[in-house]
Amino acid sequence: MTDKKIIAIVGATGAQGGGLAHAILSDPQSEFKVRALTRNVNADKAKELAKLGADVVTADIDDLESLKKAFKGAYGVYAVTNFWEHFSPEKETAQAKNMADAALAAGVQHIVWSSFEDTRKWIPLEDNRMPTLLGKYKVPHFDSKGESDKFFQRPGLSSTIMYTSFYWDNFIYFGMGPKKGPDGKLAITFPMGDKKLPGIAATDIGKCAYGIFKAGEKYKGKTIGIAGEHATGNQMAASLTRAFGTEVKYNGVPPEVYRSFGFQGADEMGNMFQFKHDFEADYCGVRNLDASRSLNPSLQSFDTWLDQNKSRIPLE
Ligand SMILES: NC(=O)c1ccc[n+]([C@@H]2O[C@H](COP(=O)([O-])OP(=O)(O)OC[C@H]3O[C@@H](n4cnc5c(N)ncnc54)[C@H](OP(=O)(O)O)[C@@H]3O)[C@@H](O)[C@H]2O)c1
Repeated sequence: MTDKKIIAIVGATGAQGGGLAHAILSDPQSEFKVRALTRNVNADKAKELAKLGADVVTADIDDLESLKKAFKGAYGVYAVTNFWEHFSPEKETAQAKNMADAALAAGVQHIVWSSFEDTRKWIPLEDNRMPTLLGKYKVPHFDSKGESDKFFQRPGLSSTIMYTSFYWDNFIYFGMGPKKGPDGKLAITFPMGDKKLPGIAATDIGKCAYGIFKAGEKYKGKTIGIAGEHATGNQMAASLTRAFGTEVKYNGVPPEVYRSFGFQGADEMGNMFQFKHDFEADYCGVRNLDASRSLNPSLQSFDTWLDQNKSRIPLE
């Protein structure tokens, strides 16, 4: 078993990387083994991974040398950044570059980079349909990821650019769950009009990445989008109504209203939903459901995810 190929997983203690780590660790036939990167090997989630058989190592994506060491001898790298820890697109871009530089230095053979579209290719900064943020972005956490694709597409690197989707887990953790409106009724609120929002169970992202690594050459040099389902606000509200046994409505507010909600990142999230709304065909088109299922045969729909997770969604 010592000839198993190492996948070095950034964010192994988090949602995306954790999904990949657990997918490999729970597959006794896997040709891969897990090297889990974390800033704190003594954290509970790191210890849990070690208990399951992962090699847990210290690394910080702000520190190039620590990454070079952590990627040494690895066949593959799962590269992810956590924008929401610092809200800085420049920092996110620098972290992406560090991971790509370290993978190049370590001779890694396959990187899966968790990315998003650079929305400025669809909405140039001078397009006033949505405000420009932080001076040079429309959707900072998308644009900085998309802008970073180029680091992974350099000669000498074999990368798969993987466009992810809205986590349904946001209903649990990101304050997006159903809330009571002035009429006393529960509602979810997005500026998506009647357009479809590609969504996914966060753990399924890592499972799709596992499928990409397992496919070997097939996805090297390719960009692929993944989603579990494309659903409108009304369709998601109907699923929530069924799951909770009480009516949940969809409140499709205009993007400018969403941007004004005042929570940290509201303007950015308003722009993000508006991009998904205005470019529904492109955004859904690249996130093909059959292709996602072929990578991850246990891919969940919103209904199957809800059946497992509804009790974790806080209801006001
Ligand atoms: N919410 C959504 O709907 C959604 C959808 C698609 C994509 N995304 C993107 O997902 C990303 C976050 O991924 P996630 O949800 O998997 O994160 P998460 O569950 O919040 O966990 C963050 C992970 O990143 C690691 N990390 C953060 N900073 C690090 C650093 N400086 N060095 C090393 N490791 C670091 C953490 O490791 P340690 O703490 O153990 O060091 C942890 O494992 C964001 O960039 C977001 O834009 C979000």
